[in-house]
Amino acid sequence: MSTSIVECVNAAVAAVRAKTDLVPQIAMILGSGLGSLADEVENPVAVSFSDIPGFATSTVSGHVGELVIGTLENHVVCIMRGRVHYYEGISMRQVTFPVRVMKALGASTLFVTNASGGISPQFKVGDLMLISDHINFTGTNPLIGPNEEELGPRFPAMSRAYDEGLRNKAKQVAAKLGVELHEGVYWGNSGPSYETPAEIKMIGILGGDAVGMSTVPEVIVASHAGMRVLGISCITNVLHQGPSTDTHTDVLKAASDARPRFINLVRGIVKEI
Ligand code: HPA
Repeated sequence: MSTSIVECVNAAVAAVRAKTDLVPQIAMILGSGLGSLADEVENPVAVSFSDIPGFATSTVSGHVGELVIGTLENHVVCIMRGRVHYYEGISMRQVTFPVRVMKALGASTLFVTNASGGISPQFKVGDLMLISDHINFTGTNPLIGPNEEELGPRFPAMSRAYDEGLRNKAKQVAAKLGVELHEGVYWGNSGPSYETPAEIKMIGILGGDAVGMSTVPEVIVASHAGMRVLGISCITNVLHQGPSTDTHTDVLKAASDARPRFINLVRGIVKEI
């Protein structure tokens, strides 16, 4: 008989609790090239993913695997430094398991960042986009399978997946800091291949402003769990001028160039949450 998610979550929480008693308010998942924010956490306790039962470890460069718990802008945060992706060959349940664990550790808010390709013609490399909504085009859903009522409802609404109050706060902080912040719809593909010209055209026609290979599964699970979600995407390459010839290295370089601005904004928002 397979173990229930609740039992797996409890085992993972116990492994983290053996290292720290801190109760995080905000769970954070940092995308490609942005993991260095975890270095700014005060009094950090870092737990390697490999020491937490049920956590998968990433195979992609730019994604170190550890959970960092500590203080950032006077809030106790739990940062996933590095994340795993569906295209690595793991199940959606494994991809989203850390969200369940961070919720069980106490986090009521999920703040997620990622790198994406710009579809909207207004985007240039390095732009930041507040995620207003998403389109799940991964072809699957992390909630497929038996539903455990204590984790959330069988048929959760996704009408307000990205919390409006948090989005307004993010816009206010961006304006105060003088950081340009666009807003748009994130289109989630499974990857790992980049988009064809026909797919890029389709995504634009169907309402996607940026496209990436992460975030959507984690947000569905966070929303199912009743967490408030805030998502910001860094446009690391532009697709509206034609399909990407960029490599993963180019994506990391663009994310790294935007990093100081991005980190400044993320810290500013955490302070105000
Ligand atoms: N497509 C999909 N995912 C991405 C891209 C892209 O162009 N850039 C960064 N992540």
